[in-house]
Amino acid sequence: MTKPRIYITRKIPAELVEPYANQFDIRMWEKTDEPVPRDILLQESKQADGLLCMLSERIDKDFLMENSHLKIVANMAVGYDNIDVDEAKQQGITITNTPDVLTETTADLTFALLMATARRIVEASNYIEKDLWRNWAPYLFAGSDIHHKTIGIVGMGRIGEAVAKRAKGFGMSIMYHNRSRKYKVEKTLQATYMDFNELLAKSDFIVSLVPSTTETNELFNHDAFQKMKPTSIFLNVSRGAVVDEDALYEALQTKQIKAAGLDVFKEEPIRANHPLVKLENVVTLPHIGSATTETRTDMVNVCFENISAVCNGLDPKTPV
Ligand code: DGY
Repeated sequence: MTKPRIYITRKIPAELVEPYANQFDIRMWEKTDEPVPRDILLQESKQADGLLCMLSERIDKDFLMENSHLKIVANMAVGYDNIDVDEAKQQGITITNTPDVLTETTADLTFALLMATARRIVEASNYIEKDLWRNWAPYLFAGSDIHHKTIGIVGMGRIGEAVAKRAKGFGMSIMYHNRSRKYKVEKTLQATYMDFNELLAKSDFIVSLVPSTTETNELFNHDAFQKMKPTSIFLNVSRGAVVDEDALYEALQTKQIKAAGLDVFKEEPIRANHPLVKLENVVTLPHIGSATTETRTDMVNVCFENISAVCNGLDPKTPV
């Protein structure tokens, strides 16, 4: 019997692929830091039963219609805004993502970004690298306190809850906004549910953890930034599409808000000459929310488990 063919859209470590070599005929794009060109993806997908893909692949309507023979597209991310899920459903293609395994890791990064932005860690480190430090000075790189401040989490899913736990450890007051109330979080972490606008007005730190959907598109727009305090710090660790970047730039430049920490952007990779990157009160990261060796390995394994289940006629572990 021929083995199902799987195409992996980025080079991943051989030792992660090896355990599945008996079960699948595995082909893989040869580069780890460059996405597969569209024509090669289309060509490889034609012969494949399943795809293990990254968030950099656009699995849109045309692609899915052309590849309706695929059994599964396993996205190596918790977010799946790169995939037309409705069309996949139409075509009978299973879509899976990688929730849970990246929750704590992404919450760690969120908190690291919050701290780096509030305490101006990157700026301060660059200062030494540029050999500018001459004297200790009382207000040199004076940032904002984190402990006992108020954090407003927009999107109280698994990652939001893990961020809230960290915030609790810092003695912060926790406010959140979400489509539905999270009574468990309210009880265990004394988190307060709040209307979006009220949360914006009251938070010292506003953390975006909402998925990118038609409802959340540019949720953080001019009006939203106008409601924030001039001392507030905005953080985005979900998807770039939820922010109107021009409005954010304006809010930062005019000191409508104090600073921003951004792990995600409308267009990725963002270039160094982008106005947001040039601002001193912005910390930027190259979308590394879940990037630890342990978690990326777990994410690959979840993808394989899902592919294996679907190719064997079983239910996937983490369907979208
Ligand atoms: C995800 O999994 O959606 C994250 O953005 C990747 O870091």
